[in-house]
Amino acid sequence: MTAEPLKHETYTHGHAPATVRQHGKRTAEEAAAFLLPTLRPGMRLLDVGCGPGSITRGLAERVAPGDVVGVDLSRETLAAAREEAAARGVTNLRYDEASVYQLPYADGSFDVAYAHQVFQHLREPAAALREILRVLRPGGLVAVRDVDWGTATYWPADPWIDRFIEMHFKTWYRNGGEPRMGRHLRALFNAAGVGGVEISASTWCYATPEETIEWGDSYAERLLTSPMGSRAVEYGFATRADVEAMAAAFRAWARHPDAIWAFVHVAALARKPG
Ligand SMILES: C[S@@+](CC[C@H](N)C(=O)[O-])C[C@H]1O[C@@H](n2cnc3c(N)ncnc32)[C@H](O)[C@@H]1O
Repeated sequence: MTAEPLKHETYTHGHAPATVRQHGKRTAEEAAAFLLPTLRPGMRLLDVGCGPGSITRGLAERVAPGDVVGVDLSRETLAAAREEAAARGVTNLRYDEASVYQLPYADGSFDVAYAHQVFQHLREPAAALREILRVLRPGGLVAVRDVDWGTATYWPADPWIDRFIEMHFKTWYRNGGEPRMGRHLRALFNAAGVGGVEISASTWCYATPEETIEWGDSYAERLLTSPMGSRAVEYGFATRADVEAMAAAFRAWARHPDAIWAFVHVAALARKPG
């Protein structure tokens, strides 16, 4: 534990346009499917690490006229999220710049707290969960979903994509995160004393030409333009030439008629005791 609450992570993905663009395609229907049946109009909901806010907007629709607050560390991403919400006329939604370790809200101020693909990037996930539970009312819902990169499977095999996966893990751990966070969620909730956690799992699967090209090209671009590639080089896990070869391999793989990529995402849903 650090004496001062950590405000900033070394966020493996970074906020390069290619990354934020990809995150901005996510929907509440897919990313919060495990939570949606429990949402009711009028609930006050917090979306922690909301990023570009496409999921947050979907959640705001579900709980309207209840208020939704999205928080994130990235000022730039939040500014774009605010513009998008205003352009779409969403009025029960606001975005605040804040860290999950120090949420600027009173105890018990939300009915629901949600975090999608965030815990995998946190140095102190237990401290983050404690802070989220603090701002939830007793009986309120906490909903967390994270990928488990340890389940990533793809075909046809390519030695450069294998190298990428190995490098990605090393960089991610060096940044203080946990790329296999999905499998740890139940233990995390149990350790926080949140009983009765419901665990479910679902997959992301890319297996049409449109899907594999979108996924493969996006990872190629992210490798070349975001910290995903540059930090790996900085840490000495790859050379720039290696990163370029990985990006080229992703583009070629994406266009192979047999291409498929899949991995598991684990979701945890529980009620705050009390
Ligand atoms: C992978 S993105 C997920 C964004 C969104 N939830 C989604 O699924 O599209 C992770 C987000 O968590 C944010 N983040 C990382 N560490 C954070 C922290 N300590 N407090 C708040 N947000 C954080 C990042 O800025 C980033 O926008």
